[in-house]
Amino acid sequence: MIIKKLGVNIDHVATIRNARGENYPSPLKAAIVAQKSGADSVTIHLREDRRHIRDEDLKLIKRKLKIPLNLEMSSSNEMLKIALKNKPNFVCLVPEKRKEITTEGGLNIKKNMKIIKKIIKKLKEKKIRVSLFIEAKINDIKLAKILKADCVELHTGNFCNLLNDGKSTKHSYQKIKNSANYAKKLGLEVHAGHGLTYKSTKIISKIKEISEFNIGHFIISESIFFGLNKTILKFKKIINS
Ligand code: PXP
Repeated sequence: MIIKKLGVNIDHVATIRNARGENYPSPLKAAIVAQKSGADSVTIHLREDRRHIRDEDLKLIKRKLKIPLNLEMSSSNEMLKIALKNKPNFVCLVPEKRKEITTEGGLNIKKNMKIIKKIIKKLKEKKIRVSLFIEAKINDIKLAKILKADCVELHTGNFCNLLNDGKSTKHSYQKIKNSANYAKKLGLEVHAGHGLTYKSTKIISKIKEISEFNIGHFIISESIFFGLNKTILKFKKIINS
């Protein structure tokens, strides 16, 4: 059996820090605790508006972390420059709107083919693996392959919302499953993320083609009550049960 990986997104440690304009809690400390707790990678999203993670966090975490660092970023020339300078192990390209609360929807690859192609090429030249955050749609997977992405991260937000609201998840689950299967057949590594909780992760982790889960908000939320270490251990168990 292939061991599934857990990427821990620590953006909201920075959100809490920034809410008070203090220098704590420290995203670096969270990254190190995640590493010690068995996280397979740490994810940070350097947003254009710097609402949580800041440029100094990226620099510091990249310098101190021993497990892979996954940088989520928009497809802009500014972010490309920052990624090439800081050399995270992975980059996940995400859509970004200033007014959104969190990443809404997957990338519009078709509309942004030229810039995404350029970014993938430049990052891969520096041996940075590139993932595209997309909706579970066959056409987007085909485009990701054409653009030579290494991985796709399937957006699980819709599935998780339906599950939380007690609505039918059958159609949404099937779309994720079919997309994961198709992407894997094309040779893409398949990740999943957004809105995942213990309950939704347990269901989605049954899809064998998905090899990595990227989880943030729920992990940080649970950590308030049970600590980062215990929460990460519980997720590690769930994804490989
Ligand atoms: N994956 C991607 C590409 C994201 O943009 C996010 C949110 O930053 C996540 C995973 C994690 O989502 P959540 O915080 O809802 O677990």
